[in-house]
Amino acid sequence: MIQFMKKIRVPRHRKKIRAVAVLTSGGDAPGMNAAIRAVVRTGIYNNVKVFGVERGYSGLIDGAFVPFELAGVANIIQRGGTILKSNRCLEFKQKKYRKQAVEKMKAHGIDALVCIGGDGTFHGVQKLWQEFEFPVAGVPGTIDNDLFGTDVTIGFDTAINTGLRAIDQIRDTASSHDRLFIIEVMGRNSGYIAMDVGIGGGADAISVPEKPSSVDDIARQIQRGMKRGKTSSIIVVAEGKKSGNSMQLATDLKKKYGYIARVCILGHVQRGGTPSARDRKVASVFGSMAVTELLAGKTCFMTGVQGLQNVLVPIEEAIQKKKEYHKDLFELSKVLAT
Ligand code: ADP
Ligand code: F6P
Repeated sequence: MIQFMKKIRVPRHRKKIRAVAVLTSGGDAPGMNAAIRAVVRTGIYNNVKVFGVERGYSGLIDGAFVPFELAGVANIIQRGGTILKSNRCLEFKQKKYRKQAVEKMKAHGIDALVCIGGDGTFHGVQKLWQEFEFPVAGVPGTIDNDLFGTDVTIGFDTAINTGLRAIDQIRDTASSHDRLFIIEVMGRNSGYIAMDVGIGGGADAISVPEKPSSVDDIARQIQRGMKRGKTSSIIVVAEGKKSGNSMQLATDLKKKYGYIARVCILGHVQRGGTPSARDRKVASVFGSMAVTELLAGKTCFMTGVQGLQNVLVPIEEAIQKKKEYHKDLFELSKVLAT
């Protein structure tokens, strides 16, 4: 079993767990299947029944439970997406539907729930424990890597590598045609993807929701490159209004500076695909930890990793505290682009 955990206090329950359910919720992320597999295999290893819940919180409300066997998760570790399907379920924000979900789980003999998802999903997790004292664990699964308390979330590593591959390919055209490219990556509320893809891809400028760059900032960066003889440029922008909107940026660069930029929006390409080695490993560890710690009487926690240590973080902290934005990386990107 997973050891070397840093001791952080999380809530406890007193239930005997005989059956666990697992669901995926919010945006899908590569590695979710590896986490499902780890939950199922660890549960069965510990003589606990495991049910899959189809379509996230919607399936929980409807009682869409499917019993898992060991073979049911064979050959999925390498697959992106989620075999349980995921969705966004507005009803779950209402207590009456959460009550219905708990009743359905109890009627199926389910004693605990593992939810794989992001910040929104964890709000649901917290309410299931606070309102109904239903034992529950959160596994961070989102390409955004925006959860406090863990260095990485499942899917982030694959998403940034997909983004990097795209930049490397676009760079060929950028340099062959002396062009300026704006590449829009995912993360409308968080700039972790843009920052890592920007640094790794050698971008001339990066704009993230936490520190949007103005058209003038970006033009200045382009000009610095031009002064030393650069004939092509790569700008990485996180999607959404907060970081500036890539199409608008292209229009503004043309209007104000006469620069013609091609825009490439990577979009959901980053959410899919075969999970990287790191995502598979993190997902396997997190999924397994979620089950063993529920069986050990812990509840309302998120599995995480801090440095080299696996940790449990109270869900409350994971959703209330804001993960630090890497100011130093932003500065580094400017130094390296000169
Ligand atoms: P993510 O988990 O990736 O952040 P969302 O923000 O879309 O994705 O949240 C996933 C689901 O979590 C929502 O569709 C909803 O069912 C549930 N959820 C979000 N916020 C809350 C909340 N405040 N209370 C209860 N459930 C919530
Ligand atoms: O939270 C994951 C994420 O992919 C974000 O990076 C992105 O901003 C958002 O979901 C896109 O959501 P949707 O798939 O609903 O367009």
